[in-house]
Amino acid sequence: MEQRIGLLGCGTVGGGVIELMRRRKQRLQSLTGWEPVIARVLVRDVLKERTVSFAEDVLTDDPDTVLGDESIRIIIETIGGIEPARTFILAAIARGKHVITANKDLIALCGEEILAAADAAGVTVLYEAAVGGAIPLIRPLQESLTANAISDLKGIVNGTTNYILSQMTETGADFSDVLQEAQDLGYAESDPSSDVDGLDAARKLTILASIAFYTRVSLSDVEVTGIRKITARDIAYAHELGAVIKLLAVGTERDGALTLHVRPTLIPKSHPLAHVSGSYNALFVRGDAAGDLMFFGRGAGALPRP
Ligand code: HSE
Repeated sequence: MEQRIGLLGCGTVGGGVIELMRRRKQRLQSLTGWEPVIARVLVRDVLKERTVSFAEDVLTDDPDTVLGDESIRIIIETIGGIEPARTFILAAIARGKHVITANKDLIALCGEEILAAADAAGVTVLYEAAVGGAIPLIRPLQESLTANAISDLKGIVNGTTNYILSQMTETGADFSDVLQEAQDLGYAESDPSSDVDGLDAARKLTILASIAFYTRVSLSDVEVTGIRKITARDIAYAHELGAVIKLLAVGTERDGALTLHVRPTLIPKSHPLAHVSGSYNALFVRGDAAGDLMFFGRGAGALPRP
């Protein structure tokens, strides 16, 4: 039996989803008993050249063709940003469709509304890739670690700033030179503010903290400082102290009080987070039953490239 899926967006993440579904089709079929079929793909421009090919009539620029198709029971959203992704997801939920999204901004800002709508409609919204890309973080926090009272989250959850700080540490260069180089190489956005000012990490922290601490955290609960003011001299002083500087997203629970911040932080070189370099992400978790755990891996993009 077919399981027909609608994909919203076909950029880096959407293209990766299609490649994976094709590569793992047999395995998915034997695990679930149904054949996954990407039945419709919503794009802005159906005529644009793409690296993945589609059968005729799969690509569409009309959202209703995807969201209004009764045979589609699962929507995968890879558009990113708040609108129109929010409207599309709420419309899909209202029509009884399950949703999978990698949209960190949307889950951080409108997660409560979306999850409440999903509860009311009796459908599931999954968002594992919204934080830490390929690293399993959401499900371990939601399910595997439920026996734990979690007291600490410490994460390197923004690859762009980790790349910049790692390059500054390795080369001794200043922030603006490394940022320029990262933009030239396509690692940093042409408008890098949400990364370098810490907002992207703060949004990811609100998602992780809401799950880990069983509460609803909003962006205004997080004190945020970015990395624009970090100089080559700061990096050199850190080195003299036996430390490195990382942009850390931190959530701490002590006696029922939660503190949340994102800020550049000195980390002793002996700490496992000090060795998370380049665009890699990591999350350090402390639970009363499990003790210290660390999750590490690629936090962005589609598939790993050689
Ligand atoms: N801009 C983000 C980062 C992309 O640099 O980590 C992945 O969320």
